[in-house]
Amino acid sequence: MRISRLLGGLLLCAAVVTALDCSLGAQTQPSKMLAATPPMGWNSWNHFADKVDDKTIRAAADALVSSGMRDAGYVYVNIDDTWQGTRDADGTIRANAKFPDMKALADYVHSKGLKLGIYSSPGAKTCAGFEGSLGHEEQDARTYAAWGVDYLKYDLCSYTKELRERAGRDPVKNQQVMEEVYLKMHDALAKTGRPIVLSLCQYGWQAVWRWGAHVGGNLWRTTGDIEDKYASMAAIGFGQAGLSKYAGPGHWNDPDMLEVGNGGMNANEYRTHMTLWAMLAAPLLAGNDLAAMTPETLSILTNHDVIAIDQDALGRQGDRVAAEGPLEVWARPLAGGGTAIAIFNRWTMPLTMTFDLKDAGIHGSVHLEDLWAKKDLGSFKGSYTTALVPPHGVILLRAQ
Ligand code: GLA
Repeated sequence: MRISRLLGGLLLCAAVVTALDCSLGAQTQPSKMLAATPPMGWNSWNHFADKVDDKTIRAAADALVSSGMRDAGYVYVNIDDTWQGTRDADGTIRANAKFPDMKALADYVHSKGLKLGIYSSPGAKTCAGFEGSLGHEEQDARTYAAWGVDYLKYDLCSYTKELRERAGRDPVKNQQVMEEVYLKMHDALAKTGRPIVLSLCQYGWQAVWRWGAHVGGNLWRTTGDIEDKYASMAAIGFGQAGLSKYAGPGHWNDPDMLEVGNGGMNANEYRTHMTLWAMLAAPLLAGNDLAAMTPETLSILTNHDVIAIDQDALGRQGDRVAAEGPLEVWARPLAGGGTAIAIFNRWTMPLTMTFDLKDAGIHGSVHLEDLWAKKDLGSFKGSYTTALVPPHGVILLRAQ
């Protein structure tokens, strides 16, 4: 009886979390109904940081609609750090003066066909020093649900202090403690009965991709904070090689939010950013000022074919399949038997590349389409030689 229950549990684990490491014991599983494809939306932090308020969020919601981004799939409007005020006498968290009425704000966002995200920490304080959820997890989850929140980014921040106190420098115990705090918030959110996406943010510590889904994470940051610079974006994005087996419907690797349109990279670099995130099945959370974006930024963020790769129903993250010096080929299997192939040039001069199609899992003849150039390239067999790939740029192909 006990053995059959154990076997049953292992089979469930294998079936639900394909290719994930179940050895830590699968305490819980993220709901497949939530984040069946990587979440898409916008987050206030990359552009506004602490300068976010009710007006900023309403303007972002308006711009998502008027720009066509909502209809392209960007539906979450996520308030990051610095919204929190103090707690009232019974411990209920209140927003600060920047957000006079969170429920009314949620209603406004919902009235636009969008969803609202919020931010907290398992620690006493958030990264920006505002009130965290330590000791108030269930109460905060109930408050978020009552406001109508649909997404929570839960950022470790000051909990690192508790980690040190509770577990010293033993990294294994630190992992257990992190698992506990994230599971606690997952359970608190589940108890509210409202579907709320849980986004783990602890910078990838202790290979969170191996256990993030076990504690109910729908996504988990795999790295530290992105900056609006090619070097930062490339280090993070290309550094995701090897993580593809940990992602799938309901549970995604998160290489951090987009910087597209924030001004620190050129258009080729932003196309690389967008392409790489799509190949990685990464959450697409725009981080720019939507009310003031250029047509070029909008066209990069809303390229329908690129978004379709990110949101592909199969939910298989892409990975690096070949490399030659600064040139990298990444491939991602798609629903319906197609394959996305991205050829990245990390060098500062244009380069061409010839690669074997079998490296991308393609045998026999295949039809190729260039998704940024919107060009039908014809049929190929064996290998493919690209046109010049721009410096820090990319050619993105769809093979069928
Ligand atoms: C951390 C997170 C960022 C952002 C800030 C807010 O640095 O990694 O994404 O949420 O905190 O303080």
